[in-house]
Amino acid sequence: MKALVLSGGKGTRLRPITYTSAKQLVPVANRPVLFRVLDTITAAGIRDIGIVVGDTAEEVMKAVGDGSAWGANITYIRQEAPLGLAHAVKISKDYLGDSPFVMFLGDNVIQGGIKHLVEEFSRGDWNAQIVLKEVDDPSQFGVAELKDGRVIRLVEKPKEPLSNLALVGIYMFDHHIFEAVEAIKPSWRGELEITDAIQYLIEKGYKVYPYIHRGWWIDTGKMEDLLEANRLLLDEINTSVEGKIDGDSSVTGRVVIESGAEIVNSTIRGPVAIGKNTRIENAYIGPYTSIYHDCLIRNCEIEHCIVMEGTKIEDIPFRLEDSLIGRHVEIKATAAKPKAYRMMLGDHSKVSLIRENV
Ligand code: G1P
Repeated sequence: MKALVLSGGKGTRLRPITYTSAKQLVPVANRPVLFRVLDTITAAGIRDIGIVVGDTAEEVMKAVGDGSAWGANITYIRQEAPLGLAHAVKISKDYLGDSPFVMFLGDNVIQGGIKHLVEEFSRGDWNAQIVLKEVDDPSQFGVAELKDGRVIRLVEKPKEPLSNLALVGIYMFDHHIFEAVEAIKPSWRGELEITDAIQYLIEKGYKVYPYIHRGWWIDTGKMEDLLEANRLLLDEINTSVEGKIDGDSSVTGRVVIESGAEIVNSTIRGPVAIGKNTRIENAYIGPYTSIYHDCLIRNCEIEHCIVMEGTKIEDIPFRLEDSLIGRHVEIKATAAKPKAYRMMLGDHSKVSLIRENV
């Protein structure tokens, strides 16, 4: 069994973060989404993993390396343009050969693992098995219709969904999928859709079975999804404190405080994750906040946020909430005259200031 992880795409809904960084490398509960995908795959006993990369190839390769951190053998497969999930399968044919494989979208986070799924697919003589989850708004996903325990129809982002079963970005395939990806034509959005490829398998009489996922699942395409994945993952952490907490600080609830981190004269109310060598000083860090490595948070209050590597936030008079802050960002209040806001923001940045007296 092999795995194919898709880690290309432009991540337009996560700009400006994705102008400089791959969406799959945004940390949730202080671990990049893609690392969590690799954790899940290797925990199911799969060691041979192909990662399809696009414009952000270099950054992904630098972060993941040869896979030895996971005890895995990683092969990178270059996709010249984001031409669809089925296109990614097509260009991975030489790598995958005749092996059955799990395809996993590198921006999906799920609760629990895929061990059971992989075992079930290995035992059967099915050609494909697709992971489904009941959702409230299926129209933003691929949607499946089932009959007598089999998948009989799939539609990509239907206006009028036939069921509430969304396609989670995890699929099991045998080599018949290559016949399907060769046969289909690009969709209206110019992509070779994996949904169409699976629909082809169904129409040709191949066996396509569902796997209903019972835990939570988040497709982290937007900031709100990342904050939600962060919240759900922080709810599952076990306390571990390797950094230093001084006598003037109060730490309650479940927290992970990594090595080299320092908490000085501050209140931390978990669940919270504080990364390596991050300093928290005269601050309040509220529930569902993850602050990554090498940050400085001083004289301010933060809650329900993800703060990425190397960022400094200081002397902010109001609490910062519901925010995703990128790498090496500096937010600081100053007494400099004239009294004004001064910003240097990337394209598509979003800033929400407090309006007084309303
Ligand atoms: C893709 C698939 C869709 C699936 C979703 C899961 O959509 O095409 O069927 O439900 O991933 O994350 P995309 O993220 O490319 O819009």
